[in-house]
Amino acid sequence: MRQIVQLHFILLLFFFARLSAQSIPLSPPIEAKIDSIIRLMTLEEKLGQLNQIGGTWYDDKTERLNEEQTALLRQGKIGSFLGVMGAEETGRIQRIAVEQSRMHIPVLFGYDVIHGLATITPIPLAEASSWNLSLVEQSAHMAAVEASVVGIHWTYAPMVDIARDPRWGRIAEGSGEDPYLSSVMAAARVRGFQGMNILDDGSILACAKHFAAYGGAEAGRDYNTVDISERTLREVYLPPYKAAVDAGVWTLMSALNEIGGDPSSGSRWLMTDVLRNEWGFNGFVVSDYTSIQELINHRIAKDRTEAGIIGLNAGVDVDMVSRIYMNEMIDAVRSKKISETIVNESVRRVLRVKFAYGLFDHPYRNSDPSKGPNVLLSSQHRALARTIAGESIVLLKNENESLPLSKKTKTIALIGPLAGNENKRELLGTWAWTDKPDIIVSVVDGIRSKLGPTAKLIYEKGCEIESDSGARIEQAIKAARQADVIVAVLGESQHMSGEAASRTNLDLPGRQRELLKALVKTGKPVILVVMNGRPLTIQWETEHVAAVVEAWHLGVETGNALADVLFGDVNPSGKLPVTFPRNVGQIPHYYNHKNSGRPFSETDKYTSRYIDSPNEPLFPFGYGLSYTTFQYSNLTLSATNITKGQTLTVSVDVENTGKRSGEEVVQLYLRDDVASVTRPVKELKGFKKISLNPGEKKTVAFTLSPDMMSFYDLSMKRVIEPGTFTVSVGGNSVDCIQSQYTVGE
Ligand code: BGC
Repeated sequence: MRQIVQLHFILLLFFFARLSAQSIPLSPPIEAKIDSIIRLMTLEEKLGQLNQIGGTWYDDKTERLNEEQTALLRQGKIGSFLGVMGAEETGRIQRIAVEQSRMHIPVLFGYDVIHGLATITPIPLAEASSWNLSLVEQSAHMAAVEASVVGIHWTYAPMVDIARDPRWGRIAEGSGEDPYLSSVMAAARVRGFQGMNILDDGSILACAKHFAAYGGAEAGRDYNTVDISERTLREVYLPPYKAAVDAGVWTLMSALNEIGGDPSSGSRWLMTDVLRNEWGFNGFVVSDYTSIQELINHRIAKDRTEAGIIGLNAGVDVDMVSRIYMNEMIDAVRSKKISETIVNESVRRVLRVKFAYGLFDHPYRNSDPSKGPNVLLSSQHRALARTIAGESIVLLKNENESLPLSKKTKTIALIGPLAGNENKRELLGTWAWTDKPDIIVSVVDGIRSKLGPTAKLIYEKGCEIESDSGARIEQAIKAARQADVIVAVLGESQHMSGEAASRTNLDLPGRQRELLKALVKTGKPVILVVMNGRPLTIQWETEHVAAVVEAWHLGVETGNALADVLFGDVNPSGKLPVTFPRNVGQIPHYYNHKNSGRPFSETDKYTSRYIDSPNEPLFPFGYGLSYTTFQYSNLTLSATNITKGQTLTVSVDVENTGKRSGEEVVQLYLRDDVASVTRPVKELKGFKKISLNPGEKKTVAFTLSPDMMSFYDLSMKRVIEPGTFTVSVGGNSVDCIQSQYTVGE
């Protein structure tokens, strides 16, 4: 049996070695092999391949198998594990699967490696702020390399859910509000995790999640109902999943939410019609945690049996921890409530991915304990983490060039609950754990190592992140009074964003605003550094401080990366991947909105507006400053009249008009001015990150493809309609220069 598998594996090796990380065509010899394996399997073993369980947490904080789990493994009733890692442990478990189960089929080890494993990098929303696809890809690859030395085969990432509502805590895990930016980020991360070749050392399987539209939760409340039109779904929410599929992602995760009455984890339309039949996806779909069982709570299934039947029929291949496929589906198949052919199809997809990952030939590929020490948190990895953290920072305000600070500043008061060593775990953000806080560079340590010997740094916490108690505002003011400049590091703790962390109030939590007000009152210049997993409502703060630095949660190199930017060794180049509202009442607030029949007018009350707040956000999508300035000119189109189906080249000159070298993200937006359905006021269609020396000018060119000019008409067909299009190019979604062209028949 294993010999045949190996023979076919050689063919497979040849096949995949030639395959770039582009798409997943089927390999006839492997499919034939899978047929022969399936023919030999019992129903229990087949359903076992579709069953994923976690291990059991022991007192020593490791996750291992108990007796019951071990017995299931021997019986071939487990196809994959969630959350179990460690080179020794995974090797031990794999040995049971391969040597002691009847079919000898290796298991997969899945883990949530969301933004680094040991070398924790910035949260995905922060990395998206870098608009640097190559760095984002490298960051994902580094995570994969670290995961692969501790037994992990498969990460539940990237999360590619569009999020237009910052109340939703999981906005931290994605790339923000824009379909184009999120799509290219999704593809970059898939390439990073899966590597040039999935069989290479250091490559792991990626999982695009949560399919679909999980980020559309009403009221920003996690797990809540999603009710959006098919148009919005296809134009806004689906593109990043599609981009992941096109980039060759091997797995997807079905979401916990419903969309307009159809729970994703039971949606045949999503999992089969769209994903497989339209997009040609050949890998497998894993449910989200208990999302098969939750079909009962959604009330589309009356019991576990019905839930399992709906999930399997939909095309959700693997049941994460509900144990419904493993248990209830046996009788369901035997009593013909569900066809065994459906089960076989899911088993086929799971085995296909195991073949693709080379597990039949190398079941222990990631379980070599000697590899970890040289790889985890290596100095190269830390250096990359520092670079990407620096590029993830967004400068939001810089009055009178308050930044960068001089390394010779006599006295700096560093104030705030996120600045010191006691809260440094919070800097990691969501989905990151470590029992060794020593690996995290705090802000106080990062700044201290940057300062010259004569500079004095006084640190005071000021208050807690969330709690009202323990405030030392007076001491903070005392410290501030002695300083030339105050750096206030405020924001959210780790657990305030991520899963199950929705907020109704996006102000700085606890007594932090009160602390900032007191600091501002001293009359000293205040540099505000905000650390958060989502946009916060910081209008008051922005209006009253000299500079605002959006630092997100930057990971293990936070202090170094922040000091690089504060003292000008790194010129900030991040741009917001998401709109910052002024207040929660404006939410959802996104740049690519529709015009409405009564677009806002200053002079007309009966237009779309609030009576108590401006419409404009605090900071728009794409926004971010630099220590230098850039000027845009000479926007040129290769033609002003084209016909449908033709491409167009857009070029623009960008000049560094300031005194420092810097990087700029040149953004291109497009609008179909008049169409048969309403179109967004503008949509991002391209961007390029360029670097310019002082006085240097570069011409940046973009190609607008026919696809970029198309949209879904009323019958949901993709069309390009004749008429004028407006091209806007600039350094954010608002401050752009424009030109027009016409598309003829
Ligand atoms: C989350 C997923 C995650 C899974 C496994 C779920 O609660 O929604 O994003 O991958 O748990 O940990």
